Amino acid sequence: MNFPMPTLRRAHGRLMLEDLSLADVAERFGTPTYVYSAEAMTSSYLAYSEALSEIDAVLCYAVKANANLAVLSLFARLGAGFDIVSGGELSRVLAAGGAADRVVFSGVGKQPEEIRQALDAGIRCFNIESAAELETISDIASAMGHTAAVAFRVNPDVDPKTHPYISTGLRSNKFGVAIDDAFDLYRRAKDLPALRVSGIACHIGSQLLDPAPVAEAADRVLSLVDRLADADIVLDHVDLGGGIGIRYRDEDPPTIGDFLAPLIARMRGRSETLFLEPGRSLVGNAGLLLTRVALLKQGEEKNFAVVDAAMNDLSRPALYDAYHRIEPVVAGDGEPRRYDVVGPICESGDFLARDRDLAIAAGDLLAVLSAGAYGMAMSSNYNSRPRAAEVLVRGRDSFLARQRESVADLMRGERPLPPD
Ligand code: LLP
Repeated sequence: MNFPMPTLRRAHGRLMLEDLSLADVAERFGTPTYVYSAEAMTSSYLAYSEALSEIDAVLCYAVKANANLAVLSLFARLGAGFDIVSGGELSRVLAAGGAADRVVFSGVGKQPEEIRQALDAGIRCFNIESAAELETISDIASAMGHTAAVAFRVNPDVDPKTHPYISTGLRSNKFGVAIDDAFDLYRRAKDLPALRVSGIACHIGSQLLDPAPVAEAADRVLSLVDRLADADIVLDHVDLGGGIGIRYRDEDPPTIGDFLAPLIARMRGRSETLFLEPGRSLVGNAGLLLTRVALLKQGEEKNFAVVDAAMNDLSRPALYDAYHRIEPVVAGDGEPRRYDVVGPICESGDFLARDRDLAIAAGDLLAVLSAGAYGMAMSSNYNSRPRAAEVLVRGRDSFLARQRESVADLMRGERPLPPD
């Protein structure tokens, strides 16, 4: 089956991302290394902007999916806005040249310092997730002499039919305010002089393969928007979140255009601007993790390929039992054997893939596909492992977007106890 990543191909047995051989990338930058394709990111962004061209829309890239500055600056140059969930993400967006007035700030636990930082920067909107946060933002904005533009993130109670850890729009989730409580909260917000009621937001989950639940959520949100307008609370934007799924294995997600069609149909002729917050669908299939086989090991029941990347580099398999396709960088001609591809970390959950048929030997390079979203972004230093390098490929060029961490980086800020 062809690769889920649009700019990955095999030429003379060798894997190429755009026009660059991944073996050359490994030679130059070492392993483990995340490798991203600028063309794949650009083309998924353009798929959104083309689909949205007939309505008024702002695409806010969800920084949490991949927060590397090179990635953020690529999207900033394409004109993207950004969806952030922390002051750290805001600093990254600004450092990458992103426009503060196209930033929306989501998240259930914004800290006062982060709220001040966002007001100082002049962000576009706070997506408020609770009644308590409404009061906090109002108090801070008023103390600073600022006006905060706000939206409520409503929880439409729609089942997105995805993995329970990444569904966010159910009544039982911690996110957003109940849609039935939102009307009163908007009335309260309207009375607070330091706030400007600007929009409404919802995000029901991630890796969605069916547009129907998002359309259903949109219907519930838009009917609230109309009720609010009847009460003289007029919103200027409707933010329908992110969530469009991608192919990892054999999923068959609708194209971005097909997924958006029912949303565009609902927004056509309305006065509000549509905001979207996609993450995975912009970067997931633009990136892979390059790793080297350290050794092959025959266990009692299974064969293991021990590689130099681990769950600290890519935690999705361990966390969600997620499937990432594994491809040898140079096609082998030996007999395939069945392996679990595992890292060196001291946990049984430290696997990147299970039961894969691979013709490989120690020293071979492997590409773990579809790792551009929530890969490096969720990496850690567990087992005191320096984090991987990140490289952005553009045509034949490779750009070191993040230097590999050193052990000194790991210990920065720590110190041993002073002598007794
Ligand atoms: N907006 C909000 C408010 C979100 O919470 C999220 C993702 C997004 C937008 C972007 O969603 P996307 O377009 O990427 O589906 N670590 C998990 C995914 C967690 C998603 C969290 N929220 C994974 O690796 O599958």
